[in-house]
Amino acid sequence: MPNRLLITNVSIAKMDEPDDGYGLITHAALLIQDGKIEWLGSVSDIPAGLGDSEELDACGRLLTPALIDCHTHIVHGGNRAREFEMRLEGASYEEIARAGGGIISTVTATRETDEAALLQDALKRADSLIDEGVSLIEIKSGYGLDVETELKMLRVARTIERERSVRVVTSFLGAHAVPKGADADFYIDKVCIPALEAAHKEGLVDAVDGFCEGIAFDTVQMGRLFERARQLDIPVKLHAEQLSNIGGTKLAASYNALSVDHVEYADKTDIAAMAKAGSVAVLLPGAFYTLHETQKPLVEAFRSESVPMAVATDWNPGSSPMGSLLLAMNMSCTLFGLTPVEALAGTTRNAARALGLKDCGIVAPGKRADLAIWDVLEPAELSYRFGVNPLHRRIFGGRL
Ligand code: NIG
Ligand code: FE
Repeated sequence: MPNRLLITNVSIAKMDEPDDGYGLITHAALLIQDGKIEWLGSVSDIPAGLGDSEELDACGRLLTPALIDCHTHIVHGGNRAREFEMRLEGASYEEIARAGGGIISTVTATRETDEAALLQDALKRADSLIDEGVSLIEIKSGYGLDVETELKMLRVARTIERERSVRVVTSFLGAHAVPKGADADFYIDKVCIPALEAAHKEGLVDAVDGFCEGIAFDTVQMGRLFERARQLDIPVKLHAEQLSNIGGTKLAASYNALSVDHVEYADKTDIAAMAKAGSVAVLLPGAFYTLHETQKPLVEAFRSESVPMAVATDWNPGSSPMGSLLLAMNMSCTLFGLTPVEALAGTTRNAARALGLKDCGIVAPGKRADLAIWDVLEPAELSYRFGVNPLHRRIFGGRL
């Protein structure tokens, strides 16, 4: 029997590029063959001769591309609840980081946690994203800051893909923070770049990321890492302009970064550089919310410069302990002023683009059949509610 699934009686938000809306078709059907979308259209046009297909009546529900979380740090040890309390008592994220807390405290915990325990915790986090219809998770290293632990994190990330029905894309984030007592230049040249080379050799790196900020690395240091990434033919992305504007966005754009992430402090010249480079702006409302940030990303400028906007959880133990991509969509609307169409594009089409992927993120013939069916009538409902999970079922690689 052919490996075919026919979904009938469904509304489809195609989220495809030429249409600025949802690309909605109602009273539709969709045919999946061998893990890919073969055909979609009106129920009245279902091709003949499909009698031997498995069939699923969606009872009028909404089908979208499965969601993509294009920026996470879900492999990490420990937690930072104490810092949450400290911030509520008035300490800032930067003060905590400069006092040796922040990312560095998670580095200590991650170094101390063995691979099996890291995997168990990360799988729980992956499961809660999968339960919300996520089919693809980007996972960063960056809590090792030494060769051994950076590679350990990336191996755990790759293992998640084997343990669950989910795709994983990795980013090497060795330039996340300066290790305690280290010199930033020495660290980049003698630890971070060798760690990248070792991880690349093991096939663990899909992209190179960094944190360009006063409390992390400057543009010259990041530039040296990006130069090595270019020699190794690995695409780059960057945490930039999160807490201040120090030029990270323009640096990333000069390397044709896949994405520039956070970007609250990016100005119009930064956004013009991103437009020219074709970089996606990854908006992270969970970090904005957690850090009580008041500087919002210039959403109107991203729109007018046609810079695609993605939305992600940034799930990490410090600035964004948020395990819900649906909540990130809601927050991107409420806090940043995205429309529900933009929020859904941000976790489907534009999230795929932020990862440099062309085989997913929209519902169209030839794309992977990574799909989500929701118990909602209209696509805006996905961003409208929060704390509610309307997923009916997820289809991964054509399988229910
Ligand atoms: O994306 N901005 C830098 N990196 C993370 C924070 C990581 C942490 O606080 O542990 C972020 O927000
Ligand atoms: Fe991050």
